[in-house]
Amino acid sequence: MSQDMSDDKLPQAHGAGEGHGEVAAADNPFADPGLPPHEPRRTDIDERAAKRAERQVSLLFIVSMLATVGFIASYVAIDPAKIVYIFPLGHISALNFALGMTLGVALFCIGAGAVHWARTLMSDVELPAERHPIEADDEVRADVIQQFKTGAGESGFGRRKMIRNTLIGSMALVPLSGVVLLRDLGPLPGTSLDTTAWKEATPTTPIRLINVNTNLPMKAEDIAVGSLTFAKPGPSALRPDGLQESDEDFQQVIAKSALMLIRIQPSDIKDAKSAALGFEGVLAYSKICTHVGCPISLYEQQTHHALCPCHQSTFDLSDGARVIFGPAGHPLPQLKITTDASGYLIATQDFDLPVGPSFWERNA
Ligand code: FES
Repeated sequence: MSQDMSDDKLPQAHGAGEGHGEVAAADNPFADPGLPPHEPRRTDIDERAAKRAERQVSLLFIVSMLATVGFIASYVAIDPAKIVYIFPLGHISALNFALGMTLGVALFCIGAGAVHWARTLMSDVELPAERHPIEADDEVRADVIQQFKTGAGESGFGRRKMIRNTLIGSMALVPLSGVVLLRDLGPLPGTSLDTTAWKEATPTTPIRLINVNTNLPMKAEDIAVGSLTFAKPGPSALRPDGLQESDEDFQQVIAKSALMLIRIQPSDIKDAKSAALGFEGVLAYSKICTHVGCPISLYEQQTHHALCPCHQSTFDLSDGARVIFGPAGHPLPQLKITTDASGYLIATQDFDLPVGPSFWERNA
């Protein structure tokens, strides 16, 4: 079915089989030529051809279902490390190839079946549609609803049960391909986020705070009031030489242990517990947002607010990093700091809360 939008001033469009020569082209070069006569397809006049087309459509939907089952079976059965040679692609992952092929076939067969159904069995009578105001009146709406019902009836969706059932089956199975892929989201974090590299810090084996820019230990006087500095763990009992970039777990350790250091006037600190965890107005918070883990780096010194750039969670660092805006559900974890005999900032225990996203409940 197609739509022909005609201007009010132009001759009216005509129904199927009408309109040839009603307005002479010589009199009006822009005359609406009308619609050509409707030619019935073979499936319109031959019930056996229609049945054959119905079986072909259903076959495509059945192949789609089988391909989806094949997708799931491939995911379960094929070793992810297995490499095969496929011409002309070369050596590729057998699992990726099987998943791609089966999902492609499943989606292609649904599309091909729908197209074949529309081209052979649904009504192809062309009808003109008059131009009308954008806001349809009740009569037009009723007409549209009637046309929809007519179209639904002509499509045979209710009558051709084999097509309907196989289409529903293939559409219902295809999403399963996405469901099984959820398994690739990785292992649950378990307790891996409960502690950080700072857990090695104790009163007898403290860990120094190292400036990430200078790679040097920091003193409280290095941090000006109103400033924001970033730090990482220094040498510890576990790693006497300190964390090295060549360490296999460098990124993971740094990500979990990243510190955001600010210094504010002690009289501006509203939360007593937070003040006790700091040192002379220097407060050390986790840099990892408690929403979904983005690094926080925007700090407004007048308000002491830290803003996460991902979804605008805002934390009041003068009030225990309480969430004052945004989707984060927990305050930023804070690290207890003090100084050693040489005046360097040190940590003597891990963060007061697990760092990172708080999508699992941790009773904080
Ligand atoms: S990750 Fe910080 S607000 Fe979403």
